[in-house]
Amino acid sequence: MSVSGFSIDWLSMREPADREARDQVLLQSARQWLQAAGAQPATVVDLGAGTGSTLRTFIGSHDAELHNYPPLHWRLVDQDAALLAEARRRHSLHTGLEVYELDLMRTETLPLADARLVTASALFDLVSAEFVQRLLDAMAEQSVSQKPALYAALNYDGSTDWTPVHPLDGAVLAAFNLDQQRDKGFGPALGPGATDYSLEQCERLGYEVYTASSPWQLDGKDSELVAALIDGIAQAVNGNPAIDAAALQDWLQFRHAHVATGSCRVGHTDLLALP
Ligand SMILES: C[S@@+](CC[C@H](N)C(=O)[O-])C[C@H]1O[C@@H](n2cnc3c(N)ncnc32)[C@H](O)[C@@H]1O
Repeated sequence: MSVSGFSIDWLSMREPADREARDQVLLQSARQWLQAAGAQPATVVDLGAGTGSTLRTFIGSHDAELHNYPPLHWRLVDQDAALLAEARRRHSLHTGLEVYELDLMRTETLPLADARLVTASALFDLVSAEFVQRLLDAMAEQSVSQKPALYAALNYDGSTDWTPVHPLDGAVLAAFNLDQQRDKGFGPALGPGATDYSLEQCERLGYEVYTASSPWQLDGKDSELVAALIDGIAQAVNGNPAIDAAALQDWLQFRHAHVATGSCRVGHTDLLALP
């Protein structure tokens, strides 16, 4: 889910919750797929890489000393030069790291040659059905020997459950999920339908597809993230005719008043498609 744009601060704020949420079985299967490539360091292409959260997840550490373990070549693709510069800065010791400043929608320019795995996190709910089609076509075309696998993690599933509840929660969620389908530069966004659509398309092409739930489970320890989430949701639904402005202010105040003591579950799904 993206609620606050893609600043370094927002991505850094959500990264611990994302790391905690990722399904460990699928992540381990993706790692095993890379290890099964043999002696050569395998190549991973991370789409919408931001500052490199997926890379850090795969190497299992934020410790600069471990930046070269395991030996993988990473191609980080994003359209945001500042985020890629931050990824480079954080991983300056990583010898097998390349960054590509590209618009993902230009799928013909994606650096997919010889990729063993294509990854994405918190991206597929932003993209369109057309993008998924074009990406899968490009993956099939560009790999000489074997198609790469796809690991698309942390796709928002349309559920957000708050404790304690507020009478406006349902209406806010419905309006937010509508906003999730707004065009984010790829055409109409898949939003909460991202995993189901990707699963169908991958299965149609003969991939073996696995999905698993990867919800954020947030409470007082995540208060900074929860506060930003609340503001982002309110901003997204503000102006929706189904939401009364005064009621939304009440919802905002109530939610902020319970940031430290309440909890919130935001549903996501991870997907791994093996050729
Ligand atoms: C929600 S962020 C996720 C970043 C990162 N994967 C993570 O989990 O921290 C989505 C990322 O996709 C990138 N992005 C969005 N639209 C893009 C496009 N059309 N081309 C390239 N990158 C794009 C944004 O710049 C941002 O870094």
